[in-house]
Amino acid sequence: CGIIGYCGHRPAVPVILEGLRRLEYRGYDSAGVAFVQQDALHVERAAGKLCNLEKRLEGQNVFQATSGIGHTRWATHGLPIEKNAHPHTDTARRLAVIHNGIIENFQELKNGLQACGCVFASDTDTEVLAHLLASFLDQGLPVAKALSLTLCRVEGTYALVVVSLDEPGVLYAARKSSPLVLGVGVGENFLASDIPAFLTYTRDVVFLEDGEMVRIDASSFAVMDAATLAPITKDVKRITWDVAAAQKGGYKHFMLKEIFEQPKVIADCLAGRVDLAAGRALLPELASLPTPERLFIVACGTSFHAGLWGMYLLEQWAGVPTRVEIASEFRYRDPILLPGDVVVAISQSGETADTLAGIRLARERGAKVIGLCNVVGSSVARESDVVVYTQAGPEISVASTKAMCSQLTALTLLALSLGEITGRMSRQARVDCLANLEKLPSVLEAELPRMRERAAVLAKTFSESSSFLYLGRGPYYPLALEGALKLKEISYIHAEGYAAGEMKHGPIALIDPRFPTFALAPVDELFPKVKSNLEEVQARGGKIIALTNPGSDLRVDHVWEIPKAWGPLTTFLMLPALQMFAYEMADYLGKDVDQPRNLAKSVTVE
Ligand code: G6P
Repeated sequence: CGIIGYCGHRPAVPVILEGLRRLEYRGYDSAGVAFVQQDALHVERAAGKLCNLEKRLEGQNVFQATSGIGHTRWATHGLPIEKNAHPHTDTARRLAVIHNGIIENFQELKNGLQACGCVFASDTDTEVLAHLLASFLDQGLPVAKALSLTLCRVEGTYALVVVSLDEPGVLYAARKSSPLVLGVGVGENFLASDIPAFLTYTRDVVFLEDGEMVRIDASSFAVMDAATLAPITKDVKRITWDVAAAQKGGYKHFMLKEIFEQPKVIADCLAGRVDLAAGRALLPELASLPTPERLFIVACGTSFHAGLWGMYLLEQWAGVPTRVEIASEFRYRDPILLPGDVVVAISQSGETADTLAGIRLARERGAKVIGLCNVVGSSVARESDVVVYTQAGPEISVASTKAMCSQLTALTLLALSLGEITGRMSRQARVDCLANLEKLPSVLEAELPRMRERAAVLAKTFSESSSFLYLGRGPYYPLALEGALKLKEISYIHAEGYAAGEMKHGPIALIDPRFPTFALAPVDELFPKVKSNLEEVQARGGKIIALTNPGSDLRVDHVWEIPKAWGPLTTFLMLPALQMFAYEMADYLGKDVDQPRNLAKSVTVE
């Protein structure tokens, strides 16, 4: 998850360790370094925190090398243990590579390489890069050409850096859909996944683009096209931010950064899981499970809201009866589980105590458990029968944003996959859905800046409200719950989420000009129903913000238009608007956005 490469005049290892420390905030579960010293490639790695790696290096003479690479890993394939930590090497230890991203076709490449005699030492997707690159070097090709050919064979995303005995004192790097920056110093150059890694040494940076490769040594750098090796001229930019701002990628808070990461989160969760032509969601993890007769989704907090949303898709598309339960209720209520029942436990952290208790109970009663989880190797991942990783990357802000987006993506894939198995969803509908899912990242990317501006204006307008009602119907009802949760979590404004149709059974009594309503009103088959609920609010003098789509004829105080997507996928465009509104409100009110009072990121006690 954190990458650093150094070529210069200082001992490289201390510079690399310091760089990794400055990337620690990104979260990681193992770390490693590689450098060339006395004509040999040295690699040192350790599971856990950086101090474990430092202990390994203690007493070793590591001060001669003036170039090398370092990595902190946040697991996506393979457990967070030493053998899976980066750097990875080829069998002859001719080179070492560090990598962020996901190699989608790694299994296919691995099979080919194993057939040629390569012995793999880890469970990672990254290791194929080392062996593939070595196979080209063995043909006598220079490193640049060998790396170019390697990248041509690879599908997926990467930011990677290579050190090799073929050209000691030189590093090669490349990127595709994963960040990589070059730091230009005097008599030294740096490569990193994020600027803070080298900001104490230089403020001059070159932002690398997808499809570019770079060669650095102590005194020069050269950027080239990764496919043709044709030189590319790049501008050197001067960074004016301080380290704290740089860690947040220039954003004011991690929450905001994570909201803006959602287009990438959707793309990463879909990576390698879509066969568009066949209209198939690929979740090979589930192959060992029988088709569920009933599903129970068990989760807490935001993950529970994701589960509730999933129910709408799972029942409609796959026809599998689905119940969604708060884990702390499920675990104590003596639930009836029958053979054929499957429990889906959703958890970002994979460590939530109630969710884990739910898993244990379910398994005791003979149900199979699918863990839908972000953190590789977490307790939920270990205790479930199978795991579907949501691949959202580390989430730092206490209030969950991008993790929910990834859970919704994974649930959509699950519903599609089951919809195919049960035959309830036609191939055409699955193709349409997948094609539209794949379009979401670019639509959302374009929309986010506009969303933020609108959210900021609305937050200011309503900053004196002490209470909010959130309303939605169908799959937008769980979204209303989530909108209310986000607002109360970080701005401390009381908020309630309600099913719009249930409003007249209670909350309507509260409506007056000082009690605003935030409505989810996508233009879908339920739109007329939501519209009439909003008329009821208006009739009582309630102010309304309505998130809707172009073409709605809503006449409310604040119409907030968001592009419409295919079917329930409009959710993916509305969720960030809710998050952004809560964020802007909390920030305007001067609250501690990333660490709201009384809340924990991971609730490991009951
Ligand atoms: C805490 C966090 C929430 C999260 C919930 C469930 O309350 O503050 O953001 O949604 O736990 O966490 P999990 O890691 O199981 O998804």
